[in-house]
Amino acid sequence: MRIAFFGDILGKSGRKAAAAHLPGLRERLSLDFVAINAENAAGGFGITRGTAEALFDAGADVLTLGNHSWDQSEALTYIEREPRLLRPVNYPPNTAPGKGANLYHLPDGRSVLVMNVLGRLFMDPLDDPFAAVEKELSDAPLREVADAILIDFHGEATSEKNAMGVFCDGRASLVVGTHTHIPTADARILPGGTGYITDLGMSGDYNSIIGMDIEEPMRRFTTKMRSGRFQPAEGEGTLCGIYIETNDKTGLATTIRPIRIGGSLEQAIPDD
Ligand SMILES: [Fe+2]
Ligand SMILES: [Fe+2]
Repeated sequence: MRIAFFGDILGKSGRKAAAAHLPGLRERLSLDFVAINAENAAGGFGITRGTAEALFDAGADVLTLGNHSWDQSEALTYIEREPRLLRPVNYPPNTAPGKGANLYHLPDGRSVLVMNVLGRLFMDPLDDPFAAVEKELSDAPLREVADAILIDFHGEATSEKNAMGVFCDGRASLVVGTHTHIPTADARILPGGTGYITDLGMSGDYNSIIGMDIEEPMRRFTTKMRSGRFQPAEGEGTLCGIYIETNDKTGLATTIRPIRIGGSLEQAIPDD
């Protein structure tokens, strides 16, 4: 199976990058399935129905969220009606609306389990992410129930994300980190066959401070005073993520390549 997963769509720049580059990439790489973290799609904070639909139209099959899931209050009701939108799976039981994991079926009958999980280090912590992932993996094991399993581990600490990759090795097709908005260079296939990267990076304007207009975050760093809201940077965005191929017999990754298209990051486009 040919799969791409893109990091946090940051406002208009991120949405434009997805609309500009994803349809062509989807066709060129014959992608079977595309997942995107979209927790910053709406003006940098959360997601709305309109921003979600723009990403589905660009070629996303599933959107994941994170600590910004509910920044736009309409997401609380929209997620109940949209099974292609996932929030972190490790909320306490019977609290958050929507789902944190779901099985999706391709037109050819193959299936993909996608999961969104929130880390606990340097975050407002939810329930144990490792226990939550363990439960989902035992409910829908790779090969027995799902032909591919994709896990978006949304967290701040590289150590916790690295640990989650190792925890899932051999049991998931791909574990990606999201949330820091800076891509890491450690994309690889772990010894047990799971594709892994500590952070996908954001899809947005990198001439910024993690996607935001420089002025206000710089003011806060240098003066410790705030004088406005964070505004998304609106220069040309980079569509930033990862491409994998999996073996349909094992569900494990056989190829992993970074994707960086457009904007100011060094370009990386997988060979087709
Ligand atoms: Fe984010
Ligand atoms: Fe986040």
